[in-house]
Amino acid sequence: MIKPKYHVMICTSCRANGVQKGFCFSQNSPELVQRFMEEVDDRGLSSEVMITNTGCFGICSEGPIVAVYPEGVWYGKVKSDDVAKIVEEHFEGGQPVKSLMI
Ligand code: FES
Repeated sequence: MIKPKYHVMICTSCRANGVQKGFCFSQNSPELVQRFMEEVDDRGLSSEVMITNTGCFGICSEGPIVAVYPEGVWYGKVKSDDVAKIVEEHFEGGQPVKSLMI
């Protein structure tokens, strides 16, 4: 098993009953998951960066939330247009994008 360097958790407002309903979902976060997967794949980082969709982090007003571990960096109000910058600067360059951090 290969352990990823970064685990990226993106809130898609998943609930235990299987229903996706919540703020991040309403802000198109499933599209964010897709964008992250494409960007990571396009840059050949699939073995280093794992993308997972999650349930609510409890800070919906800052959503869509993207949490990156092991660093514990949380990004808020993330839009599709921000994905390339996060992947390039954080996952390739090792520098979190301060302007998006919460
Ligand atoms: S629904 Fe995403 S943080 Fe609450």
